[in-house]
Amino acid sequence: MGLELRIIVIGLLFFIISGASVAITVGVYNVKDYGAAGDGQTDNTKVAFHAAWSVACAVQGKATIVIPEGAYLLGPTIFKGPCNGIMVMQVIGQLLASTHLEAYNQYWLHFQYINGLVISGGGRFNGQGASAWPYNQCKKTQDCKPLPMNLVFSFVMNAAIKSISSIDNMFFHIHIFGSRNITFDSIKISAPGDSPNTDGIHIANSANIQVSNSVIGTGDDCISIGPGCTNLTIFRVLCGPGHGISIGSLGKNAGEKDVIGLYVSKCNLTGTTNGLRIKTLQSSPSTLKASHFRFEQIIMNNVYNPIIIDQNYCPSANCPKR
Ligand SMILES: *[C@@H]1O[C@H](CO)[C@@H](O)[C@H](O)[C@H]1NC(C)=O
Ligand SMILES: *[C@@H]1O[C@H](CO)[C@@H](O)[C@H](O)[C@H]1NC(C)=O
Ligand SMILES: *[C@@H]1O[C@H](CO)[C@@H](O)[C@H](O)[C@H]1NC(C)=O
Repeated sequence: MGLELRIIVIGLLFFIISGASVAITVGVYNVKDYGAAGDGQTDNTKVAFHAAWSVACAVQGKATIVIPEGAYLLGPTIFKGPCNGIMVMQVIGQLLASTHLEAYNQYWLHFQYINGLVISGGGRFNGQGASAWPYNQCKKTQDCKPLPMNLVFSFVMNAAIKSISSIDNMFFHIHIFGSRNITFDSIKISAPGDSPNTDGIHIANSANIQVSNSVIGTGDDCISIGPGCTNLTIFRVLCGPGHGISIGSLGKNAGEKDVIGLYVSKCNLTGTTNGLRIKTLQSSPSTLKASHFRFEQIIMNNVYNPIIIDQNYCPSANCPKR
């Protein structure tokens, strides 16, 4: 009788445990199960990451891609939607950008056409930019290929990016384009103060984007805002080294849209060339507007140009005049 009961109890326990483990693993896709090697040497571009994303993207409901401890070498990769549910990328380890520059076309990791995305986990996106920086020649010559940006979000809606780091990118760290409702919280961005064009977060043609509680130190703008943005909120950002928080340049290209609604508060700019900057080209069309900006509780320490509004901005030698 005693034995029988124990068998039943053990059987029940087993049932509960196996049931629970099934519940945990459903919707979880570990890149290692798709052949990823976290040894820092094996190139994981072709198989592992692409395969895990394709499977997860097809799932209804929430799908979590896990990048566990380890250093995963990866060339240019696009994570493309639309997906059937919310995509969660949990980055615990480190992603390392491949240093074969010829393989890239403007981006390293590109998230596109996704509605519902979460990236978190405390991991790092390492652009391994030091060997690429000498090839940043686009300010000097027209005949050049721009270096890749670390993380690009284009046409992404309803996303939360939190607790990750982007380091030593080759070009911009994060570029947001054509997107809506994205929050960046507790992000750490760093590249040496003398690394070229390593802008922290660049936002263009997007609405309802928020950046908060983050630390950004780079060789260019900490946050820059291009044309066509509405309702951007930035608070509790520590910036430096870098070129500060910048709107523009605006009015350079045909078809640009207004920038309306920017609220920057409780930021600390330390050791930056500029603090808060607005830059427009002299040739910008007079119909283009940049308005409804509010800056509040900004601390500046050792900032060369604390507030600078330049309506005659000229990034190259010959700027068209109006
Ligand atoms: C914005 O995105 C978040 C996910 O990051 C979502 O929870 C929220 O509902 C979205 N808000 C709107 C207005 O769509
Ligand atoms: C502006 O953006 C914030 C945060 O990104 C959001 O909570 C708010 O609803 C947006 N406001 C409008 C009018 O869309
Ligand atoms: C601003 O940031 C700098 C650099 O981290 C720090 O030393 C300073 O105490 C901060 N200032 C305030 C008022 O928080």
